[in-house]
Amino acid sequence: MPLSRPVLPGIAYGGDYNPEQWPRDTWREDVRLMREAGVTMVSVGIFSWALIERREGEYDFTWLDEIIDLLHENGIAVDLGTPTASPPAWFFAAHPDARVVTREGTVLGFGSRGMVSHSAPAYREAIVRIASALADRYGAHPAVVMWHVHNEYGAPVGEDYSEHAVRAFRGWLRERYRTLDALNDAWGTAFWGQHYEEWDHIGAPAAAASIVNPGQRLDFMRFTDHQLRACFIAERDAIRARAEQPVTTNFMANQHWSTDLWAWAREVDVVANDHYLWAADEDAHIGLAIAADLSRSVGGGEPWILMEHSTSAVNWQSRNLAKRPGEMARNSLAHVARGSDAVLFFQWRAGRAGAEKFHSAMLPHAGTESRIWREVVALGADVERLAAVRGSRVAAEVAILWDFESFWAQDLEWRPTEDLSHRERIRAFYERLWHDGITVDFAQPGQNLDRYRLVLAPAQYLLTSEDAADLTRYVEAGGTLVVSYFSAVVDEHDRVHEGGFLAPLREALGVDVEEFLPLRDGAEADVEFRGTRIRADHWQEALRLRGAEPVGAYIDGPAAGSAAITRNRRGEGVGWYISTRLDAEGLRAVMADVYADAGVAPAGTPDGLEVVRRVTDTTTFVFAINHRDQDAELALTGRELLRGGRAEGRITIPAGAVAVVELDDPQEP
Ligand code: GAL
Repeated sequence: MPLSRPVLPGIAYGGDYNPEQWPRDTWREDVRLMREAGVTMVSVGIFSWALIERREGEYDFTWLDEIIDLLHENGIAVDLGTPTASPPAWFFAAHPDARVVTREGTVLGFGSRGMVSHSAPAYREAIVRIASALADRYGAHPAVVMWHVHNEYGAPVGEDYSEHAVRAFRGWLRERYRTLDALNDAWGTAFWGQHYEEWDHIGAPAAAASIVNPGQRLDFMRFTDHQLRACFIAERDAIRARAEQPVTTNFMANQHWSTDLWAWAREVDVVANDHYLWAADEDAHIGLAIAADLSRSVGGGEPWILMEHSTSAVNWQSRNLAKRPGEMARNSLAHVARGSDAVLFFQWRAGRAGAEKFHSAMLPHAGTESRIWREVVALGADVERLAAVRGSRVAAEVAILWDFESFWAQDLEWRPTEDLSHRERIRAFYERLWHDGITVDFAQPGQNLDRYRLVLAPAQYLLTSEDAADLTRYVEAGGTLVVSYFSAVVDEHDRVHEGGFLAPLREALGVDVEEFLPLRDGAEADVEFRGTRIRADHWQEALRLRGAEPVGAYIDGPAAGSAAITRNRRGEGVGWYISTRLDAEGLRAVMADVYADAGVAPAGTPDGLEVVRRVTDTTTFVFAINHRDQDAELALTGRELLRGGRAEGRITIPAGAVAVVELDDPQEP
């Protein structure tokens, strides 16, 4: 549900703040330094349950009262956490049955976080109690501008195989299927003798002798997501009954896949997202752009909140690279460019003890005489200069389908080859568009796509017949659709479509798939496309043309000589099918033709200069983020918001720097 009023007047700046880890003297230094850095909002109390409810029903709010008042006196707003990601020791002592059981049957111990069964009745009661107590006490506090429920639902564990979960799973299945006949049919239990005569015989899909029924596993993922969301909704409603501030929880778009963010975004008042660079990825800023675009898209295009990112290194990857000078600002402002109305970090002050002591912070262990601190202060000033951007939106003409259920299904075992990866294909297509300077929304199958000139389905393994019919109508009405291999293979129960692979898209694409032809590890099988040789590997398909024009043919491999890439005119639009894994150059060649069909034009900006627009009815803000080692030029006229001054027809963005220009003519292309 979109937020009807802004959380803060400008772009929020700050991060997670854990005062309970520090003595009172440090608090005073904290707020002084927060002011120096331009911090406007901090998230407090996210992991503080054990220090707020010291014994069941015994609350101690003194320290929280004090810190919230101190922040308020210093003009710093509070995003108040509910601490339910980390129940206290007393809770597990009283309710040992509320611990998570893994798929292999291990009962998870205390001393970490996130190890509670979201189906345990005692947990459900306890979270409503603590959320209600917090909302009763702070719902009217003027410092509190937002509620931060829980932390990153689904991480570090989402799935739970405890007795509580099994019982709840059966209840969820009864609601979904009503009859055992319907369940047996959906799961295809005639296979391997899995037929059920009693609801009570159905369990969670725990580790078994061989692979477990894929329909059951897919439903268990849906159930798990549903249980997590039910916990969020219970807390949210307890808060809403007592307080009026917007309620959110922090997502992990493009980092974690176990929660269906389309469904979650409908439950929060404003989308909030956490994002951390993947250090092994040399183009991690492209992964960042995907996460930001997805955060915006799940919220229907509304501005969202970057709830966490890092000033420099994280501490949980195998090699945690420090950010280079300027990189933090490029990251932060790329999120803002793609719709965030906040720049928030994990965390304000680096912690001395505990598992995250090597994680970076706004205030590092080295103190204020440090590069990180100087950059944090400079960024705070930049964020303040962007206040006018708040509330503006990002416009896109191209959509990429992103479907969590399809990803869950594709990731199950015993697929035709281990080389199939939805993440890899989505990234490959997105990367092409990123390099071409084309802004992308993500879309859910079944949503209205009419406003997009071009829709890409790089990895739509699971596609219902209804959603396929919508895509066909989209093409018939004039849209351009590109579908990549291993798509439209199964229905919502992971059963192969009647009529075979790709059958539901046969009309839109003018082709279907006779047989999958995966390749040996390392084997390449190139394609001739419009007279040139382009590279492909991993996968081929034997296609049956049903009216489409073959525009690329396999040169080698088992499908040598037959169609690899097809183009189909259908109604007013065009459907493309790419039946193999093209490399980046191959995608460049094919996408050039696709753009021509769709009437989409690459931006023509220098490669490595990320240019994104945020618009209102009367204003256009152009963000230009230079990821290159050289300066870059951009043609435009307007007021530069970060460095001041004007761009008269052209602006130079120094290597590694960012410029934000408010155009004189908001319509300037
Ligand atoms: C996030 C989490 C934070 C902190 C951070 C470290 O996933 O929400 O609490 O652990 O990671 O990168």
